[in-house]
Amino acid sequence: MDANPTYQGIEPDAETALALLEWQAELGADEAILDAPLDRFELAARAQPATSPLPLQVQAQVPAAPAAEGEADPSALVAEAEALAAAADSLDALAAAQEGFDGIELKKGARNFCFADGNPKARLLILGEAPGDEEDRQGRPFVGRAGQLLDRMFGAIGLSRGAVDAEKALYIINVLTWRPPGNRDPAADEISVSMPFVRRHIELAAPDLIVLMGNIPCQAALGRRGILRLRGQWTQAFGRPALPMAHPAYLLRNPPAKREAWADLLSLAARLETLSV
Ligand code: URA
Repeated sequence: MDANPTYQGIEPDAETALALLEWQAELGADEAILDAPLDRFELAARAQPATSPLPLQVQAQVPAAPAAEGEADPSALVAEAEALAAAADSLDALAAAQEGFDGIELKKGARNFCFADGNPKARLLILGEAPGDEEDRQGRPFVGRAGQLLDRMFGAIGLSRGAVDAEKALYIINVLTWRPPGNRDPAADEISVSMPFVRRHIELAAPDLIVLMGNIPCQAALGRRGILRLRGQWTQAFGRPALPMAHPAYLLRNPPAKREAWADLLSLAARLETLSV
C-alpha cells in the first residue's frame, strides 16, 4: 500500500483521511482483505480471450470444469461438514468440530467464532443470519443493536437469554458462525457448508419451537425467501414447529413493522403456553 496515499492528487490531512475512511466503512468497505486470496498474476493470464472451436450453443452444454487443483470441491466440503457434525455427540464437541473446520473461507477474515448464546436447554431457539461487527468482536450472536432490540422484544413476552429456567429462556444461534465481510449476505456455498452444523446443533439442543429470524434462515431451512410474506405463519423446520419473523435489523429501519412483530411474539407466547399445560 502507498505510504502517502493521495485523494484526487491531494494528500489529505489526518482529519480528512479519517472522514474518508469512515465514509468507506459506511458504504460497507470495512475490510482490507477479500473473502479469499486472489492470485492477480493468474487473473491476468486468464484475461486472455479464450478461443473455443465449439459453437456457442455447444459450449453452453459443456459441464462446468471440476474444481481446479488446489481449489476445494464444494460437495466434498459439505460431506466433510456432515461427517464432522454427525460425529459430535454434545454441543461442546460440535462447537470444537465446527470451529476447527477449515472448509469456509470466511473463517480466515473473522475475528471470533460465534457459536451460540443463551441457555441451550431453552424451549425456544432463535436461528439468525450471521454475525455482524459487534458479534465478531465478542464471539456471541446478536449482541449489536439488532441484538439489543431482540432482547427487548423477547423480554416483552417474559423470555431472556440469561434465564436458567428452560421455560423462560432463549437459545440463539446463526446460520453462519463466521462474519461475512462488510455484513454482506451469506453466499449459497457458505450456507450449504454451514447447514450440517446447524442441523446437528438443533438436534442436540432439541428445542420445542424455532424462530426463523429473517430471510437467510428461511432460505436455509425452507428454501424460500420473502420474509414479509412468510412472517407470522407457523411452519415446520428441522422437524419442529417454526415461526418466521422479521429480523430486528429490519425493524430498526422500519419501525411501523414492529406492530406485526408484536403480533408474532404474542403468537409465540400462546404456543409456548399451550406446550406448558
Ligand atoms: N444479525 C443476525 O442475524 N445475527 C447476529 O448475530 C447479529 C445480527
